[in-house]
Amino acid sequence: MPAAVLAGIGSALPARIVDNHELSTRLDTSDDWIRTRTGITERRISGPGESTADLAVQAGEQALRGRGADAVVLATSTPDQPCPASAPQVAARLGLGTAAAYDVNAVCTGFIYGLATGTGLIAAGIARSVLVIGADTLTTLIDPEDRGTVPIFGDGAGAVLLRAGEPDEPGALGPFDLHSDGGQAGLLWVEAGGCRKRLTDVPAERYLAMQGTAVFREACARMAESSVTVLERAGWLVDNVDRFVGHQANIRILQATAKRLGMPEDAVVSNIHRVGNTSAASIPLALHDAHADGTLIAGHRILLSAFGAGLTWGSTVLSWPELD
Ligand code: COA
Repeated sequence: MPAAVLAGIGSALPARIVDNHELSTRLDTSDDWIRTRTGITERRISGPGESTADLAVQAGEQALRGRGADAVVLATSTPDQPCPASAPQVAARLGLGTAAAYDVNAVCTGFIYGLATGTGLIAAGIARSVLVIGADTLTTLIDPEDRGTVPIFGDGAGAVLLRAGEPDEPGALGPFDLHSDGGQAGLLWVEAGGCRKRLTDVPAERYLAMQGTAVFREACARMAESSVTVLERAGWLVDNVDRFVGHQANIRILQATAKRLGMPEDAVVSNIHRVGNTSAASIPLALHDAHADGTLIAGHRILLSAFGAGLTWGSTVLSWPELD
């Protein structure tokens, strides 16, 4: 059975930077509060020409570097339209002809679910190469008046190209651990805009509602639990992990999860200070930045773990490959 091997990476961010000082001019908040409670200093906010699909195309182009892909899996909870999925348009704009293309919605865990889906397509012999993109413009779901959510979220995209290879090659993904708990969907959700309740002018219904403290607790517990499971499946000890690339929701969540796992703080990879929580884009953006600045080098053993609305959570591992 072929393994899915990471063979390329790319990222894209909107041009507009909004820092904490700018937010504190229009909301009852401060740079100090946001930095100490979340680790975020600034985030990118999408504008015209920077939709989810626009950002996904830019990140995808970088990951492909002129190569093709048999399938595109776009992890997003903010597609350009409610119907159809955005992945086929992304595939077409990337010049991938009639490649299979579909969206996966597991919100902030979307990229891990997307990797699992891409790995499955390759393992089943359905595709030899899969472009997995995590892209979100989650700020379009945020109430501009809500100081509880505005400081946290940002927009962006990250992408990886997976190719068929051998399980013991550097870059081979897996095993995986994936979970959900729909019984707790109400901790983090948008009430209206779906089929049960169509578009509405009521801010409390059309924007993301978040029970921050409960989400914080669940995120730490679930990411740690899932990381333990996936490390056991991989036969790795915590000490074998060189870098922990978790979903960039809050630096304190990443630090607390690492602590629960008994991992040193310097194993934690984070770019949250400059991008905030970019939902499905968070892990590939963090991987891209860490690769670019040398925090990740070939041979590093990496643990990926995410948590998000749904609730959903999941983890996987890989050894970082040589990439151009
Ligand atoms: N600026 C200033 N004060 C703020 C604020 C802001 N932006 N947001 C909340 N506060 C206030 C609260 O009103 C509260 O005031 P009070 O003590 O007078 O009642 C105080 O700060 C503490 O609020 P609390 O919610 O307990 O803070 P916290 O330490 O839990 O941090 C979050 C809040 C949202 C940063 C934190 O709960 C969190 O990160 N949760 C997870 C969110 C997340 O990751 N979501 C996405 C998951 S994929």
